[in-house]
Amino acid sequence: MQIFIDSADISEIKKWLAYGIIDGVTTNPSIMFKDGVYDAETGAKEIAAIINPRPLSVEVTTNDLDEMVSQAQEFAHWAPNIAVKIPQITEDGTPCYGVIKQLETEGIKVNATVAMSLGQVIMAAKVSATYISIFAGRVGDEGGNVAEVIKNCTDWLERWKYESKIIVGSIRSVADILTATIAGAHIITIPPQFLTKMADHKYTRDTVRQFVTDAKKALAEMGKAKGS
Ligand code: E4P
Repeated sequence: MQIFIDSADISEIKKWLAYGIIDGVTTNPSIMFKDGVYDAETGAKEIAAIINPRPLSVEVTTNDLDEMVSQAQEFAHWAPNIAVKIPQITEDGTPCYGVIKQLETEGIKVNATVAMSLGQVIMAAKVSATYISIFAGRVGDEGGNVAEVIKNCTDWLERWKYESKIIVGSIRSVADILTATIAGAHIITIPPQFLTKMADHKYTRDTVRQFVTDAKKALAEMGKAKGS
């Protein structure tokens, strides 16, 4: 299973990359805005260079299908490791699968985003999307069974030998990460604060503190013994 970081915060990206934990980065217009990246091109180029050859997802910002294609073609020129996020449907419900198909045919990797259901995942896989992003937190907000949706999607892709990879996003807790892991997510994209929480455990800290304290006591005893 791969772990992506769901962030445009350069210092967090560099930190988790240096730890060896992350295999890629996902963004969307809201994440870029929250992290102070107002110039998407400059920000995306910087992130893509830092994580190269790992993938960076950058999302189109329009409901117009032709404009989606031209934005995606432009984004793909920013760096070789950019995957372009295309939603399943526009805000009015127009399917974007033709856009995804065209871009993948042109060799542009697509992250078919804002998926909430097995039906959408089936359609995105049919048009060969490289990645399909299921928004777990938002599925759960509407009373959906997140684990069941993820498991059904990954099982279906495997049964019919589709190569699309499921990215589980919209993570709201460490428990969400574990649910997605057990359900069979190929990739989970995690906001930095939950990566920190995932590594942490009160009793791990307490135990390490005990070991360091006792090691210092032992050194002190050795010092006393040598001095005597
Ligand atoms: C990732 O690809 C998504 O854009 C992101 O996880 C969405 O998260 P949200 O539902 O918290 O906005």
